[in-house]
Amino acid sequence: MAKLAKLDDIVSLCKRRGFIFQSSEIYGGLASCYDYGPLGVELKNNVRKAWWKAVVQMRDDVVGLDCSILMHPLVWKASGHADKFADLICECKKCNTRTRVDHLKDKAEEGAAAQEHIEHVDIEKEVAAQHDLSNKVCPDCGKVGNFTEPMPFKLMFETQMGANVDDSMTLFLRPETAQGIFANFRNVLDTTRVKIPFGIAQIGKSFRNEVTTKAFIFRTREFEQAELEFFCEPGTDDEWFEHWKEQRFNWYLNLGIKKENLRFREHDADELAHYAKGCVDVEYKFPFGSGDWQELEGIANRTDYDLRQHQRGMRTLNAWFEAKGDLAKIELKAEAEEYLKGPLSYFDDVEKKRYIPYVIEPSAGIDRSTLAFLVDAYDEEEVRGEKRNLLRFHPALAPTKVAVFPLVRKDGMPEIARNIYNDLKEHFTTFYDEKGAVGRRYRRQDEAGTPFCITVDGQTLEDKTVTVRERDSMEQVRVATDKLPGHLREKLV
Ligand code: GAP
Repeated sequence: MAKLAKLDDIVSLCKRRGFIFQSSEIYGGLASCYDYGPLGVELKNNVRKAWWKAVVQMRDDVVGLDCSILMHPLVWKASGHADKFADLICECKKCNTRTRVDHLKDKAEEGAAAQEHIEHVDIEKEVAAQHDLSNKVCPDCGKVGNFTEPMPFKLMFETQMGANVDDSMTLFLRPETAQGIFANFRNVLDTTRVKIPFGIAQIGKSFRNEVTTKAFIFRTREFEQAELEFFCEPGTDDEWFEHWKEQRFNWYLNLGIKKENLRFREHDADELAHYAKGCVDVEYKFPFGSGDWQELEGIANRTDYDLRQHQRGMRTLNAWFEAKGDLAKIELKAEAEEYLKGPLSYFDDVEKKRYIPYVIEPSAGIDRSTLAFLVDAYDEEEVRGEKRNLLRFHPALAPTKVAVFPLVRKDGMPEIARNIYNDLKEHFTTFYDEKGAVGRRYRRQDEAGTPFCITVDGQTLEDKTVTVRERDSMEQVRVATDKLPGHLREKLV
């Protein structure tokens, strides 16, 4: 029976073993920003690779893209982010702490896990709604019902581009990777042979000036997303929505996430983002507070909202020059019916019809899934009276696949072990270690999640076999050195 990980266990293991460090730690740290260490970067790369393999490489109907983080400001006007991407916050009148209104707990709920279901809200609806804060508790000073009126807090980071006052402009760090895909829809159509239904996938950094960050890498201000925009004919969208729900749920299960820790949660109509017709979250039972279901990935039916909006945006370029880049002064023109035949429409040359495609969007967080994989793999057990910490990673995710040890540093064992290491590192991420007792070396690899350890011992000198020890069962088998790559490949792929 696996031990239920606590977040503190994960944070301490990540620091101790070089998975994840606080950013700028030597200067006291920068809140909500993290750096991935030597093991962490391998793990995160493997999460990215596994996503790309399932969503792009193994499919005939998805192509990839890598867009710049800085984009034309009109992109964010058209997408709705410039006006609507905000959280509703209030300020405690006693201690001035600002909190997301949907994160405030009632006095009666104190101690319960915070609600994390709404990533961002439709701010117009939220401002208009009545919020009774009379019973809500300030998470910082504990004062009850002593808040300012709720107000919107914009989540996009701003920056300046250009050195000259005349031509410099305010840009935004992208808060989602999706918009780069919509902005390149026509480019991809014109330069590839894709036909609807098809998808465009992208992995990259996104930035949000989150009001509350929490729980290690769960919610940060700089994070990585893996997003697919899957374009389909209106009317087929419900079917594709179901298809991607199943694909994405199984992706986590196939990479070893325990079924009892994963579930779907349908969004209620009043929590849907401004662009969505339907949305379901894949939730993971993260070990925050008392053990809590939290969003891991969102799967949304974005309809034809974004492509239509960008067609409107393209028509407001002149207004943008007149407004001197002030997005608040720009109004997107209403769309005439014939504009549905505009530049971001699609012509089906078999059915001879033109339409603006609907979009199904599975949107995952690379850092958030990395945290889920760490939590799910974490285990502690007692072996012969000693505690063993281990990460039971799926082989595809394990940062190091194989470790090679000489039993002792004499009798030519290190030379043989080095040769095996040099041979294996052509095929797998491999680690060589000759320091300390072999038992301790095994424990270090268990804690790093390495699935196999190879030891060169006395018998190797006689019959050219080595022991191969498997992490989870700790079972050892003898394998001839020349058969090692084949033996390991069979178990690692
Ligand atoms: N394009 C749709 C979109 O961005 P979202 O629900 O806001 O939807 C999708 O984000 C996923 O991105 C989330 O499920 C989560 O995994 C990840 N994510 C969002 N905000 C994050 C943050 N501040 N820190 C870490 N991951 C985040």
